[in-house]
Amino acid sequence: MIATTEEEIKALRSAGKILAGVLADVEALATDAVSTAELDLAAEHSIRARGAVPSFLNYQPDGASYPYPAALCVSINDEVVHGIPNEKRLLHSGDIVTVDAGLSYQGFFVDAARTFIVGDPTDTSYLGGEKSLVMQGLGDTKAHELINATRAALLAAIAAAQPGGHIGDIGAAVARIARAHKLGIVEELGGHAVGRAVHEKPFIPNDGRAGEGEEIKVGMVLAIEPMLAEGKGAVVLAEDEWTYRMADGKRAAHFEETILVTAKGPEILTR
Ligand code: MF3
Ligand code: CO
Repeated sequence: MIATTEEEIKALRSAGKILAGVLADVEALATDAVSTAELDLAAEHSIRARGAVPSFLNYQPDGASYPYPAALCVSINDEVVHGIPNEKRLLHSGDIVTVDAGLSYQGFFVDAARTFIVGDPTDTSYLGGEKSLVMQGLGDTKAHELINATRAALLAAIAAAQPGGHIGDIGAAVARIARAHKLGIVEELGGHAVGRAVHEKPFIPNDGRAGEGEEIKVGMVLAIEPMLAEGKGAVVLAEDEWTYRMADGKRAAHFEETILVTAKGPEILTR
């Protein structure tokens, strides 16, 4: 959508704040031996308790063989997006886990995702990457690098979403960070406009070229979501027909924020 009125912008900001709170609730629960279904239950409860509606639940985009059955996506290690919660699927310490949720509030849709390491007190993703000096981590440097680079790619991509620029600028920023860290980019999936539906046009490639694609305009509401991988970027669709996993079995990370393009630059709504 293109947000034009103060009322729309106010409601979008409220929706974004609600979603940030929901993801914090979910992340706080995501410890060793918790099932992904428990996380989904917590997400749905947190969304509804805050007066919003889960937007992924029963969502069926063109080409999907059945509606998405949960409020939350939980994608572990080599799974990159759209992992379906399951009571038999337990988190383990050291897993790289992405939680992705969407909601509508007063008719306005927002979408956000965070990746973190289960049980690692030095993985302070939800604090924005601030490092603790005293805690003992799990020692998985590679996992930290993957997650930190993907968060950096998200921030660079958001900074590139300037009015008067182009949609391709966003993916160009992602690609620059991925290259610097020698990580693969999941090119098949990407961001999208949002605001009045789960997915709106245009698609936002994560391997875009600067200056290409639609012009970025004031009022645009965009879900920016880089996905980076330790191996190559190719993905395969799992048997459940929702979960995307890395074709080479290596691990992936994914961060997403919904932003509003203002005359002064991008404003992150989902914080
Ligand atoms: N954040 C996800 C995306 O943009 C939302 C998926 S909707 C779901 O693709 F229904 F698949 F969960
Ligand atoms: Co999205």
